Parts: sequence; structure tokens; C-alpha cells
Amino acid sequence: MHFIPRGVALSLYATYIFPRLMDWVLRGERFHTERRRLLASAHGMVLEIGFGTGLNLPHYPSTITDLHTVEPATLLPDRVARRVASVPFPVHLRQLSAEVLPYASGLFDCAVSTFTLCTIPDPVAALREVRRVLKPEGGFLFLEHGRSDDPSIARWQDRLNPLQQVVACGCNLNRRIDHLIVQAGFRVEQLDRDTLPGVPRIGGELYRGRASVESRSA
Ligand SMILES: C[S@@+](CC[C@H](N)C(=O)[O-])C[C@H]1O[C@@H](n2cnc3c(N)ncnc32)[C@H](O)[C@@H]1O
Repeated sequence: MHFIPRGVALSLYATYIFPRLMDWVLRGERFHTERRRLLASAHGMVLEIGFGTGLNLPHYPSTITDLHTVEPATLLPDRVARRVASVPFPVHLRQLSAEVLPYASGLFDCAVSTFTLCTIPDPVAALREVRRVLKPEGGFLFLEHGRSDDPSIARWQDRLNPLQQVVACGCNLNRRIDHLIVQAGFRVEQLDRDTLPGVPRIGGELYRGRASVESRSA
């Protein structure tokens, strides 16, 4: 009997199976509605962190001029290329992590993160970078899942987090998204908490909103 070593099996799963699974789950109708609602106020030069397979692309309004994206993984490149080719604005893709961004300070009008702060290994470092590259009047739009306010759900999120990190390639169930954003120096201007219908509460607790760059002298 032949066994595939665990490391090889995980790498095959992360390369071939998980990206398809992620793309399928995150393109569900309710996710589309949430993306559209979040991105309606995006404008000007936009940075998106954790671009994934490009599922936000059709939801950007005509008020955006350029989209710059960072994404460390290579995920379904043919599908991403088709989605990029179908939008009317230029898209500049960079394969890198958001913890260190190669952009000048104060460059972007708007930054976006959807279902990504759960996975970035150092989310506060990434958010500090996002804040640095935003214009002082810029806005950070976020749509994330995270820690429940209900202690019994949060306990299950803590218990299942180690398993989630394996099956969902680094995703955490139990991050308090608004606290991370504040820790990075943003001011949260709007925060809506909701649950995704049809998704178990441990993974369906939504954090949706907008944060602004506080005065740099503050
Ligand atoms: C659950 S997926 C969400 C993808 C996409 N944002 C969406 O809404 O469909 C999380 C994404 O975060 C990316 N990611 C992981 N570590 C990252 C990092 N350090 N910086 C930026 N993105 C990262 C993953 O590769 C993955 O594409």
C-alpha cells in the first residue's frame, strides 16, 4: 500500500482542492449581495488585499479608476485572468503578502478587505500598512467573518479553530475584527454585525463596515 506523506497531501490540497472550494463557497448569492453592498462606496484608486480569485471584481462601481491587488498565493490563474479581463478598469496584480506593501505612503483613496483578515498571519501589521498607504481622507472598507459576541458560539470557535486552520488553509474563526482594525490605528466609522443565513454561526458572524485614517499626529 502506498501512502502520500502528510506534507505532500496538505500541499496538494492547498494547491488544487482548497482554491476551488473557496471560490465555490465565496461566490454564493448572499456573498455577492454583501460584496455589492460593501463596494458601492469604493472610488478612485483602490487597493484590495487578499484578492483571492477576484470575486469582488464585478461589484466595483464605475467610480473606481484603478485597482491594485496583493495576494500571496497563486489561485486558479485562468479564472482570475478571465475575471480581470471582464472589468472596464485597469487591474494591477501583485503576488505578495499584505504585511509589507510596496507602495508609497498616502497613495490610495480606498482600501478593501473581504474575508481576508481571518487568514493573514499578522493582520495588525497588514492593517498598519493599509493605513500607511491610504490618503489621510481615505477609507478602509471591510467585510469579514470573526468572533461571535455570544460566549457559547465563541467557545466553539476557539475549540474548532485549530481544525479550521488546517481545512481552510490558515483561516481563523475567532478573530475580533473590529479590535484588530482599531489596534492598527484606524477609526471605525461604521460597523454592522450580522449573520450569514445558511452558514453555521461559527463561520457566519459578519463584520461589515468602514474605517478611516485618523489624524496622523493623533
Ligand atoms: C478566504 S480567502 C478570501 C479571498 C477574497 N478576498 C474573497 O473575498 O473572495 C482569504 C485570502 O487571503 C489570502 N491571504 C493569506 N495570507 C495573506 C497575506 N499575508 N496577505 C494578503 N492576503 C493573504 C489568501 O491567499 C486568500 O486568497
